[in-house]
Amino acid sequence: MTERRLLLLNGPNLNLLGTRQPEIYGSTTLAQIEDAATDLADSLGFQVRAVQSNHEGELIDAIHTAKSDCVGIVINPAAFTHTSVAIADALTAVELPVVEVHLSNIHKREEFRHHSFVSPVAEVVVAGAGPLGYELAVRYLADRLGGNEPA
Ligand code: DQA
Repeated sequence: MTERRLLLLNGPNLNLLGTRQPEIYGSTTLAQIEDAATDLADSLGFQVRAVQSNHEGELIDAIHTAKSDCVGIVINPAAFTHTSVAIADALTAVELPVVEVHLSNIHKREEFRHHSFVSPVAEVVVAGAGPLGYELAVRYLADRLGGNEPA
């Protein structure tokens, strides 16, 4: 059986997870998050392509590429959440199910983090669950898309 693929997309500064404001974002590194998501997806019958970029255009290119070879997108757009019509437009254009993840609860934080351009395009938004949010996102998409039961 050809395994279906999920795009796991992380935006700017998330490469610094582990050392970046651990009181807000915790001590888990991005590599650990990507490995955990990959292992979980594998147990549910999906592959993962993990991409992190600090550049808006690269994130958009990754979303465009996903149209032809992925079945769903988990995205933490980081600061672009609050600024990027272009990322929201790209997610709309590819017509894949999207789960938006934030490690922190953006609604408990500064006012400028309360608005997300991505949320209206997402089927599900998870905010404030820390790294578990990525796991919830993978489980949601596997269930939504019809994956295998976990072993
Ligand atoms: C974030 C929240 C954003 O407001 C912030 O700019 C980030 C990370 C989160 O995961 O909590 O970089 O998306």
